Amino acid sequence: MVQTLKWIEAKSYEEMSEIAANIFKEQLQNNKKSVLGLATGGTPEGFYAKMVEAYKAGEISFAEAKSFNLDEYIGIEPSNKASYHYYMDEQLFNHVDMKREDIHVPAGDPSQVEKNTDQYDQMIEEAGGIDIQLLGIGVNGHIGFNEPGTSFESYTNVVELTESTREANKIYFDSIEDVPTHAITMGIKTILNAKKVVLLISGQSKQEAYDRLRSGEVTEDFPASALHKHPDVTVIYCDVK
Ligand code: GLP
Repeated sequence: MVQTLKWIEAKSYEEMSEIAANIFKEQLQNNKKSVLGLATGGTPEGFYAKMVEAYKAGEISFAEAKSFNLDEYIGIEPSNKASYHYYMDEQLFNHVDMKREDIHVPAGDPSQVEKNTDQYDQMIEEAGGIDIQLLGIGVNGHIGFNEPGTSFESYTNVVELTESTREANKIYFDSIEDVPTHAITMGIKTILNAKKVVLLISGQSKQEAYDRLRSGEVTEDFPASALHKHPDVTVIYCDVK
């Protein structure tokens, strides 16, 4: 098949983070009202550090921007250090001028989840749609928390995490028993609706996922392969072959 993904090889993690930050900086400079789709995980930490740096240097402002995060665990409080609410505050929101009411992270509170799954895509649409979506990738090819087998037509929904994902993410918890079994995530369709996508892939543990994405195969068994259906995806990678 015709490969439409744009591949950028970075020499280092630092360079990968910088290239990604430059794309987002340009987006905000061209449109200060940008709607940003944001991701969590170890991979984008360097990216967020660069965005905070750029804000502090006066190069960008988030004052008129809006954000929508990809996902959140179900059943852990925002004050829990392993929650994505906590991560986002630490990595970005506590350091920049985005208004609290313009920040959206799916609710992991079980009593809010149903309302959130129904409304999240609608809220994104009402904000004008996501202009640029940041993504990482799971070792099994998941994007957001869309595990293998997820329909490419899915919207924001509740998912059960696979054992491999719980294993991979247990480093952020005291023990595997503490890793939630369920999460709320934007669906694959939600992600494909973003106008532009930037995917970061870093490190040997992602080698297999990188190779599979690079092969061009499109299958719901490998969620990231849905990106082959999107016209504007940039993959920035380092420390994989
Ligand atoms: C989690 C998140 C994903 C993220 C993935 C990879 O499961 N839900 O959005 O892309 O982990 O994370 P890391 O960058 O830590 O490898």
